[in-house]
Amino acid sequence: MKEIKLFAPATIANVSCGFDVLGLCLDTVGDEMIIRKTTKKGVRISKIIGQDLPIETEKNVAGVAVLALLKQLNSDAGFEIEIYKNIKPGSGIGSSAASSAGAVFGVNKLLGEPFTLQELIPFAMEGEKLASGTAHADNVAPALLGGFTLVRSYNPLDVIKMNSPKELFATVIHPQIEIKTADARSVLKKKVTLKETVIQLGNLGGLIAGLYTNDYDLIGRSLHDEIVEPSRSILIPEFDAIIKAAKDAGALGGGISGSGPSIFALSKGKEIADKVALTMAKAYKNLQIDFEIHVSKINTKGIKIL
Ligand code: HSE
Repeated sequence: MKEIKLFAPATIANVSCGFDVLGLCLDTVGDEMIIRKTTKKGVRISKIIGQDLPIETEKNVAGVAVLALLKQLNSDAGFEIEIYKNIKPGSGIGSSAASSAGAVFGVNKLLGEPFTLQELIPFAMEGEKLASGTAHADNVAPALLGGFTLVRSYNPLDVIKMNSPKELFATVIHPQIEIKTADARSVLKKKVTLKETVIQLGNLGGLIAGLYTNDYDLIGRSLHDEIVEPSRSILIPEFDAIIKAAKDAGALGGGISGSGPSIFALSKGKEIADKVALTMAKAYKNLQIDFEIHVSKINTKGIKIL
């Protein structure tokens, strides 16, 4: 194989109660990439369509992720990468993760799969480090593995792919403002109280128990973020009103997608998820805020070869 074309999915990190540790993979929104083996050694980003992003390999998240992979292999192979971006940077649905994860996935395939999907996570995290200053794995892990993922530990890295209840759908609304992850991280408080920790742990455990027992109501009750959301939600127009509208329309619950400004809601069944989308859209239309909206089942496969 000399060339690969793939779909690199958008993802929702944190999923309310799991800051930096939980993530889920979407199905209906993502980037496309074409990766080609070249005789010329090194990595070249040959095309970026759809967004204005750095084309220099060392400044591009896909570029640095692949460089990290090749360095580990001590390889002098050559690749060029075309990126067709549908996910806007600073949207909160894993734009940099899609590019980083897609790039290492494609290069790994073209090299005959020297690494497992799990082993690709640290390389993709190098892209996240470049984009946000922190090598968080809660977007790249679900993009690579699919489904819901848990980063049990960062050091050593231990990522678990979890069960995804079949009828679970996500609705994501993206107000057309950009919030850089690095900025959204800088507003976070550095210390949390024991009381806040107890509440957060209860919800994190509840959400994971709900995923494994297909208990949709428990999933809904657990979508609460005691620690991060209060500091970040003030950056997002009408955050509380959108969550209330989603719940009134039947959503199980919701929160900030990644570091925002996108807001997500989870619902049981596509019918309710579509209704949630209409209600969220109506709220932003009334306020004359531009937005994009996506309804997606949980993508249990992750990156797809096209
Ligand atoms: N866990 C990261 C954060 C996700 O919330 O900063 C960024 O998409």
